[in-house]
Amino acid sequence: MWAKIEDKRPPVPRRWFRKRTMLFLGITSVLSAAATYALTSPQHGRRALVLDGVQGSPTWAQYSPFRSLEAYEVPSGCSVTQVNHIERHGARFPTDGATKRIRSAVDKLVAAGTYTNETLSFLSDYTYDLGVSHLLPFGAAQANDSGATSYERYAHLLNADSLPFVRASGSERVIDTAQNWTEGFSLASNHVYSPPLSVILSEEGNDTLDDNLCANIGDSDAQTEEWIAAYAPPITTRLNADAPGANLTDADIYNLMSLCAFETLAKETESDFCPLFTAEEFLAFAYVGDLDKYYGTGYGQELGPVQGVGYINELIARLTGQPVQDATQTNSTLDSDPATFPLDRALYADFSHDNQMIAIYAALGLFPQDAPLSTAGPEEGRTWKVDELVPFSARMVTEKFVCDGDATEYVRILVNDAVQPLAFCGDGSGRCTVEAFVESQTYARENGQGDWEKCFV
Ligand SMILES: *[C@@H]1O[C@H](CO)[C@@H](O)[C@H](O)[C@H]1NC(C)=O
Ligand SMILES: *[C@@H]1O[C@H](CO)[C@@H](O)[C@H](O)[C@H]1NC(C)=O
Ligand SMILES: *[C@@H]1O[C@H](CO)[C@@H](O)[C@H](O)[C@H]1NC(C)=O
Ligand SMILES: *[C@@H]1O[C@H](CO)[C@@H](O)[C@H](O)[C@H]1NC(C)=O
Ligand SMILES: *[C@@H]1O[C@H](CO)[C@@H](O)[C@H](O)[C@H]1NC(C)=O
Ligand SMILES: *[C@@H]1O[C@H](CO)[C@@H](O)[C@H](O)[C@H]1NC(C)=O
Repeated sequence: MWAKIEDKRPPVPRRWFRKRTMLFLGITSVLSAAATYALTSPQHGRRALVLDGVQGSPTWAQYSPFRSLEAYEVPSGCSVTQVNHIERHGARFPTDGATKRIRSAVDKLVAAGTYTNETLSFLSDYTYDLGVSHLLPFGAAQANDSGATSYERYAHLLNADSLPFVRASGSERVIDTAQNWTEGFSLASNHVYSPPLSVILSEEGNDTLDDNLCANIGDSDAQTEEWIAAYAPPITTRLNADAPGANLTDADIYNLMSLCAFETLAKETESDFCPLFTAEEFLAFAYVGDLDKYYGTGYGQELGPVQGVGYINELIARLTGQPVQDATQTNSTLDSDPATFPLDRALYADFSHDNQMIAIYAALGLFPQDAPLSTAGPEEGRTWKVDELVPFSARMVTEKFVCDGDATEYVRILVNDAVQPLAFCGDGSGRCTVEAFVESQTYARENGQGDWEKCFV
């Protein structure tokens, strides 16, 4: 059965959301507030992190863990013949830059020394001890779980001569994710199918799994700063009153809220920073992530989408069994060699980053928005929610399939298991012929229609 379009964003299991009417910055709206939730991903429960009452995920935006948004079902009478899987690395420690910003905010709070609100008293005996950038055990378990899920869904496509072909972008956390995925895949098959990690793409060179090459790309700082300046001041005032002398800034508030997510995922128990903020405040925090990705490499960034073109041209090559035609960031040495870019596999798995996956979504035409995201606050009904687009361990899967009594080859695209409508190549039901899909991808087939050159002039 096909998911109906209106089911594209289905009600996710009730424990994730509590519908509530809220008054927020003068706007009354019905939003999904994550007042309570249970963080049970990975779904196989091999490493269940279950928390109740945490005002966090999915309002942790890009720091939310993956959750399946829709039940996985192959259209009835149809069978999948090829799978193109791309996945963000699993949960990690804060990056280098984020670590510095978080530590600076924490240091101010700790230096204050006395607290007038007991929710802050833990700071009297607090040491920041997170690592930097590495994949967390929880993130490794997410990847392991994803590999097992892929095996369960697609085992029928495999044989000893057709193992999944696996590539990773060259960051340690991405490589670790790929290897935990292959391990999960292998374990689920009782070691019958143990796919190797065949290609690691250097992030110094041409890499379709990273957004490293476009020199002239802008950033999302102006938009995120504008929104932080709108929502954070009352929180800044409150915490500065609770920790006299801390002198926190609005930017510090964003960083402390992100620490709730990082520390919870790292320690697999609720961080003491989480209860310092309300559910409404976390909704505002989440919107910073939406803006960051939209204006970082998404539709709001002129040179964002072009960085997804190389991957799409590789995808077209795999779907059609034809050599890669691309003049953006593919590595032609690798892509012209069947040992490093085969065209005869049934399952391809690539491991990447959130910013790159956003660029790919935008270049493909996924999650189109009627208007640019407003820096004045979230609009109800928008589909650009990064906890649904690029959470930790996010995955986009392009399946090729055939149906009974019909020789036509079709594609559909699932993002975190939600079937995308693909209005740009079909009737919006989520099914396109391979031919119509390829035809629709003119931006990629024409190498970004001049945008790639703008990266360098
Ligand atoms: C302490 O902070 C919490 C969380 O912000 C708040 O709910 C509570 O009312 C505060 N208590 C006092 C005494 O201000
Ligand atoms: C991966 O999952 C298997 C069970 O399928 C488990 O034995 C193994 O410990 C897991 N590895 C990690 C890193 O979670
Ligand atoms: C899984 O990821 C961890 C880092 O979290 C890494 O140390 C480990 O080597 C990875 N497992 C495999 C099988 O590569
Ligand atoms: C392309 O890949 C080859 C083989 O890994 C590598 O030696 C070369 O440096 C890469 N070139 C670029 C521009 O990334
Ligand atoms: C906060 O600012 C005040 C006035 O600028 C200054 O006297 C105080 O030392 C600052 N406190 C901290 C912890 O930096
Ligand atoms: C790497 O990308 C650049 C920019 O598109 C291109 O000029 C160059 O030929 C590519 N190198 C390889 C080895 O594909």
